[in-house]
Amino acid sequence: MRHLLDTKTLSRAAALRILDVAEDMADTQQREVKKLPTLRGKTVVNLFFEDSTRTRISFEAAAKRLSADVINFSAKGSSVSKGESLQDTAQTLQAMGADAVVIRHGASGAPRTLATSGWITAGVVNAGDGTHEHPTQALLDAFTIRKRRFGPDSRGRDLAGVSVTIVGDILHSRVARSNVWLLTTLGADVTLVAPPTLIPQDVSAWPARVVYDLDEAIAGGPDALMMLRIQLERMNAAYFPTEREYSRRWGLDARRLEALGADSIVMHPGPMNRGLEISAEAADSPRSTVLEQVTNGVSVRMAALYLLLAGAESGDDPRAGAEK
Ligand code: CP
Repeated sequence: MRHLLDTKTLSRAAALRILDVAEDMADTQQREVKKLPTLRGKTVVNLFFEDSTRTRISFEAAAKRLSADVINFSAKGSSVSKGESLQDTAQTLQAMGADAVVIRHGASGAPRTLATSGWITAGVVNAGDGTHEHPTQALLDAFTIRKRRFGPDSRGRDLAGVSVTIVGDILHSRVARSNVWLLTTLGADVTLVAPPTLIPQDVSAWPARVVYDLDEAIAGGPDALMMLRIQLERMNAAYFPTEREYSRRWGLDARRLEALGADSIVMHPGPMNRGLEISAEAADSPRSTVLEQVTNGVSVRMAALYLLLAGAESGDDPRAGAEK
């Protein structure tokens, strides 16, 4: 794998390879193997032009657990504020020895530009670009669903027959886009639920069903109910009902939690707006996989970095050399 830019162009085989390697990585973490020597001598740069808690720290933990060196770059406090371009910033970091660049950027398409412009030779991983995609979030979501559905060793299995309902601010959500492409590539049935103003205009080209009524969607008993953050920072009055109205009609509260099927899981990529799209009861309930998703994210990102940097097409065991 040269880059990981999106899930729209990720094949079923490539997606399953990442999920299966992530299983291997999760095994090592469960055996309390703190570090694998796999990426010793490699340097991973976290290049973040937008804020992040989970994704940035998860990539840092993943790289360190594979013994890579990590350089963290945040646009805040850097020479970006003096007008330095993406090209000059990236080339500066490459000159310091970057083998992989993990980039989060407010502009949709920035990771692809970095990967295809010829500015740098490092592998590029998209850690979220504008409203376009967030591929490692979707991969960790698929990993979480697969593990919950098929048990601890679900290597080789896809998500055929699994139903996933994604609720909320679909319009602005790169998480929703990456999940729609990935989950359907893996065979899942995907339903989107949102106010009409928060559904993208091109949704008819997406491989997903659209429903406007959350109670109707829940009555279908999805295997996974994925609540999305309302992106208030990108919202204007034309898109959004009042917070009170949104919460009443599209929020996951205690009543709707009760109405879900007994085996349904509740997901959220974080950060959560508690009391808006999800109540505290739902976020903290035993069906919630919110923290499990965070834990799984480290394994998935270890897998992505390994496949990017270790030339793993050879089929080598990524756990080789594991030491406690
Ligand atoms: N899920 C997610 O991308 O969270 P952060 O913005 O905290 O990275």
